[in-house]
Amino acid sequence: MIESADDLVAAAVAVRLCAYAPYSGFLVGAAIRSEVGIHAGCNVENAAYPQGNCAEAGAISAMVAAGGRQILEVVIAGDGAAPVTPCGGCRQRLREFGAPELVIRVVGADGGARLVRTLGELLPDSFGPDHLAPDSAVGG
Ligand code: THU
Repeated sequence: MIESADDLVAAAVAVRLCAYAPYSGFLVGAAIRSEVGIHAGCNVENAAYPQGNCAEAGAISAMVAAGGRQILEVVIAGDGAAPVTPCGGCRQRLREFGAPELVIRVVGADGGARLVRTLGELLPDSFGPDHLAPDSAVGG
């Protein structure tokens, strides 16, 4: 199955509306294209604030549960004045399954392009699975 970048934008925009964000009111959607398909996630907040999850973390979990191990492209959909780039923790989460050349597109709530960066630009000189045993990237 061939899936285009537009499929990824549509997935991120759609899943954003499923976000559970009663505390911040800040809805985020993330869509990942992997070697096995498209995986979507939204932020899920919690009354115990630190227990909330970012959209990117949800999308990565969905990818791994579907058998995916390679992040090929990412779209993040947010709203507001500034483009919603992945937080520091999520940059490292993406690094686990993505190369420095991985393209991360940030779009608005309507899917309009806001920003394009590579993972290497967002997280330079990063630490990753290659620093450890070769098999660590696929979970053994
Ligand atoms: N958020 C994400 O889902 N991804 C990011 O990369 C930045 C922040 C969420 C977390 C929280 O639910 C809300 O946005 C406000 O920080």
